[in-house]
Amino acid sequence: MAERSLLLLKPDVIHRSLVGTIIARIEARNFKIVALKMFDLTRETLDEHYAHIVAKHFYPEIVSYMTMGPVVGIIVEGKDVVAGMRQLCGATNPAAAEMGTLRADYSNNIGFNIIHGSDTPENAEIEILRFFDADEVCSYERKIIA
Ligand code: TYD
Ligand code: MG
Repeated sequence: MAERSLLLLKPDVIHRSLVGTIIARIEARNFKIVALKMFDLTRETLDEHYAHIVAKHFYPEIVSYMTMGPVVGIIVEGKDVVAGMRQLCGATNPAAAEMGTLRADYSNNIGFNIIHGSDTPENAEIEILRFFDADEVCSYERKIIA
């Protein structure tokens, strides 16, 4: 199976009407979108997704950020898509991210860094199972070289 990554467009992307802009940047990179939906995160799912930061002092702010509205979940597929999406997202702290990355271009605050991208192919598969049912993922051939 092709490598996949799980992306979340965080709630401020929807509030700021940037959904189309961010998706256009992902498409411009030529990654193949195979699933896409808008939904609310439950506290339980969020705690699981962010298990590695749940004990950090800033976690309550993350919870209020990630539950201020719905998120857009996207599964993208392609060669080295996990690293490629992490590169497109930029550093965790938008203030330190390279210009031209999504986080630098649309944020200046680590507490509002607009997008999640899986950090390894193995974690991507775990995250995909966390957020998507199998019948929500499309299978199709692209008529271009991926
Ligand atoms: P992490 O998984 O380390 O970063 P990334 O999203 O780049 O994989 O952290 C998860 C989220 O927690 C991160 O996107 C933003 C938030 N966060 C902070 O607000 N402050 C911090 O110091 C860190 C490390 C993360
Ligand atoms: Mg992470």
